[in-house]
Amino acid sequence: MSSRSLSWGRKDLICIEDLDRSEVETIFEVAKSFKQTMERSVKKLPSLRGRTVVNLFMEPSTRTRIAFEIAAKRLSADVISMVGQASSLTKGETLKDTARNIEALRADLIILRHPASGAPRYLMDLVGIPVINAGDGAHAHPTQALLDAYTLVERFGSLKGKRITILGDILFSRVARSNIWCLTKLGAEVTVAGPATLVPPEFGRMGVSVSHNLKEALTDADAVMLLRIQHERQTSTHFPSLGEYTSMFGLNKERASWLKQDAIIMHPGPINRGVEIDSELADSPRSVILDQVTNGIAIRMAVLYLCASANNKSESDLLA
Ligand code: CP
Repeated sequence: MSSRSLSWGRKDLICIEDLDRSEVETIFEVAKSFKQTMERSVKKLPSLRGRTVVNLFMEPSTRTRIAFEIAAKRLSADVISMVGQASSLTKGETLKDTARNIEALRADLIILRHPASGAPRYLMDLVGIPVINAGDGAHAHPTQALLDAYTLVERFGSLKGKRITILGDILFSRVARSNIWCLTKLGAEVTVAGPATLVPPEFGRMGVSVSHNLKEALTDADAVMLLRIQHERQTSTHFPSLGEYTSMFGLNKERASWLKQDAIIMHPGPINRGVEIDSELADSPRSVILDQVTNGIAIRMAVLYLCASANNKSESDLLA
């Protein structure tokens, strides 16, 4: 491990747009070191010993919440997880007061998932401690995009010129937005695909191709990233029925055969088997869905480590 400084100076992670390419690469470099420690029999590192991390989740979550909790514990932080229904937010307390009280309780870092786009940035301006966005409305899910891109880099090395298709409910997806920012920063050629009602042409302004023709979008792609239909964020019906969506845009064996031979199938989860993806394909050797979940720990360890120690860390400190 070298002692060169890591390219990182921020205490918060709100969205991928804020990061430059070298910061994304720093996260990957640190995540790679942390991932190696996950193979040891003793997986714990002392990096955040004595720090307290509050996991504040105002929306349901399985993967993100557990991965952040495991990541913080692997770094020896004390972790307090709180869901919205169990907090005083249900008694009328504002998010601002909740956050300021968490800071007054001397927590060292807040991880926030919230249904309102912009909530993590709002908190960032209110408290002095680091705020990490764990998904806000349809805006951003930066650690998901980082773990997705990291999984692709592990498989392909450089993403320059790699063809990645994101298929499904793009309009309401924070995962799609964050992935578009992240993958294009790393040089990938991204196509967003799905029904015209869920994939408006405006996404073209983000530097991606927009397609409503599934065959065109999948043919010769290096990876397809499937997205769930997000009923909870839709305000009206965007297609006649789930059955119709599956028959037009669901990934099945025949459609998967249009991809490149060594292409991989991705999904941020939760998956709806038999809707956006055939159950067999989700469990097939081409699927890296569970690798994405595992990489979520290393990426979140890296993000926690970097944001909690902003400014003055070198690579040699990582495993100390
Ligand atoms: N991918 C993702 O954010 O999953 P959870 O909602 O379970 O955290």
